[in-house]
Amino acid sequence: MKDSKAISVIGLGVVGLVTAIGFAMKGHRVVGIDIDAEKVRKISDGVCPIYESALGEAMKTINIEASMDFEKALDTDISFLCGGTPGNSDGSISLRYVKGPARQLGEVLLGSTKRHTVVVRSTVVPGTTEKAIVPCFKDSPDVNVCVNPEFLREGSALEDFMHPTRIIIGENNKASGDELLSLYNGMKSPILRTNIKTAEMIKYASNSFLATKISFINEIGNICKKMGIDVYEVARGMGHDERIGAEFLRAGIGYGGFCLPKDTAALAAEARALGNNPEILEGVISTNNKQPLKMLELLRKHVPNLGGKTIGILGLAFKPETDDVRESKAIPIIEGILLSGARVKAHDPRAVPNFRKLFPQIEYTGAKEVLDSDAALIITEWDEYNYLNYKGKVVIDGRRISKAMEAKYYEGICW
Ligand code: UGA
Repeated sequence: MKDSKAISVIGLGVVGLVTAIGFAMKGHRVVGIDIDAEKVRKISDGVCPIYESALGEAMKTINIEASMDFEKALDTDISFLCGGTPGNSDGSISLRYVKGPARQLGEVLLGSTKRHTVVVRSTVVPGTTEKAIVPCFKDSPDVNVCVNPEFLREGSALEDFMHPTRIIIGENNKASGDELLSLYNGMKSPILRTNIKTAEMIKYASNSFLATKISFINEIGNICKKMGIDVYEVARGMGHDERIGAEFLRAGIGYGGFCLPKDTAALAAEARALGNNPEILEGVISTNNKQPLKMLELLRKHVPNLGGKTIGILGLAFKPETDDVRESKAIPIIEGILLSGARVKAHDPRAVPNFRKLFPQIEYTGAKEVLDSDAALIITEWDEYNYLNYKGKVVIDGRRISKAMEAKYYEGICW
């Protein structure tokens, strides 16, 4: 391919893997680097290490060299740092999976006289790249660092990669910014070139705003429930206003996943560290933490004495079309049920292996069997739950599965 580049992608979690597959599909030569031997072996064998059907299919059509050897980056033009940034207990982010690889890459590139662009793709708090990543390359004058945040939703990540809502380039060197942008040639998305800190903040502000929309509609939903108003109809009525937008107004048990909870917490922690009082962010987080507890209140309303009872759980993933259970709302809900002395039977079409690592003590079974319990709670809106027979059952719905409304006793979390 004309203008084809050699790219290394460091860190092959969801973001790195999608970045690697996406650029390979665009005709670039891609080498993926990770310290996880099993992941490297799977990718080398053309096996997708996570469940996301489009990624598995795409891997059959392209070639990615996967390796544990950082030296491989030396032979490429651009390196993407894609390590995760998990939260610490105070909400701030841990940079160990970004700084460590950046240092290793810095050592590999030291003394190289070839121009190289390092791209921070990981979500890092504004200021991080300049403070912690740029210094890793201070002795390599031909290396420049850019920031290129991702807006990839799990479940549709490859589609989001191929058709990004926007391409954000944070740069302090125009030639490197140009080189990074050239990888996206042919894409019709809006482009914003800005400084490094601003690019970092765009990612945090975007995820925090999405989280705010969800907590906002959940708060409205909680009010609507008390007033006998259907919050889904309210959201439909609001969404026609383009200034508001119809997306991310699905009320329910709140947002989970690896990104929204950690990014809101990290931005709030950073704001506090700067002496600000991030009241909106803290309200968003607090509403989100309380929302799953409402499921437990509703459960106790229908099954007052939980001791010795069997409670069914439909859905364990933090959202459908993924096997990811990080910050899934199933976690606090199941903890609460177990603490009350009840047994739990759970179903998820994809996420059971991951959830079993967290809760080996509960029973995993089919969706129909889950409904054979004293009450069933819907946690994830998998499509197949629209085809179950809920007649005669007690169902508490955290995700608005209309078919479940045929249950003998049905109650929605905020409807
Ligand atoms: C999120 C963002 O949507 C992506 O743009 C971003 O790139 C990504 O984080 C990231 O930072 O890497 P993701 O975590 O895959 O993507 O999940 P979302 O689709 O945003 O959903 C997050 C949570 O919000 C889920 O638990 C979902 O069930 C919940 N949600 C979403 C609602 O409760 N209501 C809604 O209306 C929408």
